[in-house]
Amino acid sequence: MRWMKLAFLLAASALALAAQAQTAAPLKVGLMLPYTGTFASLGTAIENGFRLYVAGQGGRLSGRAIEFVKVDDESDPARATDNVNKLIKRDNVDVLVGTVHSGVAMAMAKAAKESGTLLIVPNAGADAVTGAMCAPNIFRSSFSNWQPGYAMGEVMAKKGYKQVVTITWKYAAGDESVRGFKEAFERGGGKVVKELALPFPGVEFQALLTEIAAARPDAVYTFFAGGGAVKFVKDYAAAGLKDKVPLYGAGFLTDGTLEAQGAAAQGLMTTLHYGDGLDTPRDQAFRLAYAKAYKLQPDVYAVQGWDAAQMLAVGLAAVKGDLSRKAQFEAALGAARIDSPRGPFTLSKSHNPVQDIYLRQVQGGQNRVVGVASKSLADPGRGCRL
Ligand code: PHB
Repeated sequence: MRWMKLAFLLAASALALAAQAQTAAPLKVGLMLPYTGTFASLGTAIENGFRLYVAGQGGRLSGRAIEFVKVDDESDPARATDNVNKLIKRDNVDVLVGTVHSGVAMAMAKAAKESGTLLIVPNAGADAVTGAMCAPNIFRSSFSNWQPGYAMGEVMAKKGYKQVVTITWKYAAGDESVRGFKEAFERGGGKVVKELALPFPGVEFQALLTEIAAARPDAVYTFFAGGGAVKFVKDYAAAGLKDKVPLYGAGFLTDGTLEAQGAAAQGLMTTLHYGDGLDTPRDQAFRLAYAKAYKLQPDVYAVQGWDAAQMLAVGLAAVKGDLSRKAQFEAALGAARIDSPRGPFTLSKSHNPVQDIYLRQVQGGQNRVVGVASKSLADPGRGCRL
């Protein structure tokens, strides 16, 4: 009897040790982000934010060291499937984190859904990622393209604008940002009289600016980001439009770009889930740590990267570092309140942040928060069955 008990105890502890070795192995995080092109600085800010969170936890999440594998996706949808499959099949990553560009993110979501690999999207707003393509293993720490657009549609309708022209890049993010704007703006009594677009990542804005001047709308709504946003804001002012036709946009237009835009950006109003002057203890601590680590001020992309790591940490803690417990991981995130520098948020059923969308105005080098455009705004998650 005694030796049986001993043998049992030995076997049990061997099993426990094996399980521990499994969960104590480094966790491989595949960072698929743009490190070149018009979104290069956005990719870097996301990685910085992600690493800052991990460093704040002593370099480990639920006891597991974090190992990074990086791919530059160049914001190129044509190469996205190959790029993500390298991370899944060749590098065997445990988690995919990416990306910025909506078209690339949709290819990542498809591959993640097929392989069952955990995916956390730290920027790209493609509505489908938490809509028709939603899955138990796909989460977003950022926003849907619909969210800032919809919030600005409400703001501009309330301001009394009647006729608005939109201008953006012709791809999922631009199309969906404009669609969200139009939904709320037209419901509020306005009319989108012209939708202008140019191919991503083009910056030949002159002909379109001439069209805006000729159309003489009450105002313009736009989605541009990164390097393209810098050029657009400068060209808009240089064309003499800034004081004639007020320019509004999703907040990416002026986030992480203000130094390069200079005077051309002063006074612009945008909607976004982050901004300057929130002055909460959470945000202040984040900003201080970020500035200390990188000698840079954080922007919305850095926040989304930091929160992507935080979401991973919350899920991992619930499964004690064992990512094979997928249902428990999903349930934990579904119930979590994420303590973000933007303010706390929860996840919708389709795994997109339910969050306040701020109204901001460029004042000096800052996107000062001047109000809340839309409180606890949830993406409708159209087409998602979870
Ligand atoms: C997108 O492609 O979804 C996208 C890119 C840059 C942004 C925001 C959204 O700043």
